[in-house]
Amino acid sequence: MEGLIKEAEEIMEECEEGAMRDAGIISAGQKVEHYEIASYGTLRQFAETLGLADAAALLEETLNEEKVADEKLTEVAVSAINVEASEEEETKTKKSSK
Ligand SMILES: [Fe+2]
Repeated sequence: MEGLIKEAEEIMEECEEGAMRDAGIISAGQKVEHYEIASYGTLRQFAETLGLADAAALLEETLNEEKVADEKLTEVAVSAINVEASEEEETKTKKSSK
């Protein structure tokens, strides 16, 4: 998790402000969500295996919250950020070819 956070910080430091940077930050956020999904999924399964139904139910609830967060980040990326980033890149390409 520390590595994922460090990666996100590097994106924020190294990229110019704008859609490309926003897309990178969203990507870093999704990596964190996926890490959490893997962790909670594993823990839920451990709880089920050990017969800890209450713990398994709580972990399932948290797992589903992480999945929803990941889906929201995907929606933001797809609906806005990635479109803006490609437009920015297109503008830069046009300027450099003149
Ligand atoms: Fe999360």
